[in-house]
Amino acid sequence: MRSETQERFYPMDRGNPFNPPEDYAELRDKAPLSRVRLWDGTHPYLATRFADIKVVLSHPRFSCEPNREGFPHVLEGRMVADKADRSFLRLDPPEHDRLRRMVTKEFTVRKVEQLRPRIQETVDRLIESYTSLPQGADFVEHFSGPLPTEIITYLLGVPFEDHEFFHRATRIQFGSKSSQAEVRQSLDELFAYLDALIDAKEKNPGDDVISRLVAEQLVPGHVDRETLINIVRLLLSAGHQTTQNMTALGVLTLLQHPDQLALIKQDPTLIPNAVEELLRYSSVLHMGARRVALEDIDVNGHIIREGEGVICSIPAANRDGELFPDPDRLDVTRPQARSHVAFGYGVHQCVGQVLARAELQVVYGTLFNRLPDLRLAVPFEQLRFRHDMFVYGVHELPLKW
Ligand code: HEM
Repeated sequence: MRSETQERFYPMDRGNPFNPPEDYAELRDKAPLSRVRLWDGTHPYLATRFADIKVVLSHPRFSCEPNREGFPHVLEGRMVADKADRSFLRLDPPEHDRLRRMVTKEFTVRKVEQLRPRIQETVDRLIESYTSLPQGADFVEHFSGPLPTEIITYLLGVPFEDHEFFHRATRIQFGSKSSQAEVRQSLDELFAYLDALIDAKEKNPGDDVISRLVAEQLVPGHVDRETLINIVRLLLSAGHQTTQNMTALGVLTLLQHPDQLALIKQDPTLIPNAVEELLRYSSVLHMGARRVALEDIDVNGHIIREGEGVICSIPAANRDGELFPDPDRLDVTRPQARSHVAFGYGVHQCVGQVLARAELQVVYGTLFNRLPDLRLAVPFEQLRFRHDMFVYGVHELPLKW
């Protein structure tokens, strides 16, 4: 049994906004599976070592179902959204696998490669419209937000005009300050919206993911309506929140590391590896992948008892020096960059990772060449980081070009 240091409150504060909380390094060293205290008074484990996190996320007896006793609810508002979630993100196999298979064919390497010209065209157009705004315009509002929203709404067949509505919904559902009542109301509105959209696709199908899910899965009875609404909601929110924040945080990270930016400008073949390194370095799903033990489980010598929760810290795993030498250094040439767990691990590993990678590659490969003088428009200290949100990033990013 490993020794445990004093119990900490979770989530912990960061010192340097580019690095995970400083306590993680000490915990990884001294107590890689240690108890933390949450807002609701529960005491799940926080896993900070890469090796332990891989065991938890790939073990069939760790469940990710939020209604089970002991599942760690890291934010109050998020608990409501998680408990109401009937998508496969919150289900265990075999039902998870059955439902996930319904959508994986939409996000394959082949499908995403077919989409690449459209991603490029969208990036080019957004650069045009962004730079037609006054210097100092917010990159999050005018570029990194619209890009993944345009792409995922196009794929799903959701009218882009409604993006303000579901942006607001995800802001409420992923924010740490949202009350349970606010989250409940926002979920009801989103469900009603998606219900009506599914109706419309049934009557008037298009060449899009929702229409195919309706025709191939809902109509023959392979999935019920409520579950389908949940799956679409998952794709919609997972498809823009994460990529939006990763895009903006990645741009800021490169601007703050001019030597690394110079490398990818000189040699664009480095861009795919730079994307992996930025995913590792940023780890935007900073509140972790959460699980609860269905029986007593040995995690590299530490027994997690049945009913105990574990928060697998993705930022901590991605800064584990066992796997990534000099882990706090951004190195776009790092050979092991792609071994990160920024997209999770095991059966729940991100469905949209090929798409996210393609979007990030196109952005970093285009933006700095088109706008070689791109720079921060405000002092770095004025930036507001998303400490309080389920997905990490910057709230606003005012740039000059
Ligand atoms: C940089 C961008 C992204 C990051 C960092 C990211 C990260 C993650 C992580 C860590 C998980 C696993 C969660 C867990 O195990 O509890 C996950 C799952 C998932 N992601 Fe992403 N994601 C990104 C983009 C996307 C996009 C563009 C889509 C669009 C389809 C997407 C769809 C999903 C879905 C459907 C799941 C659930 C998979 C399952 O439960 O089997 N993600 N993502």
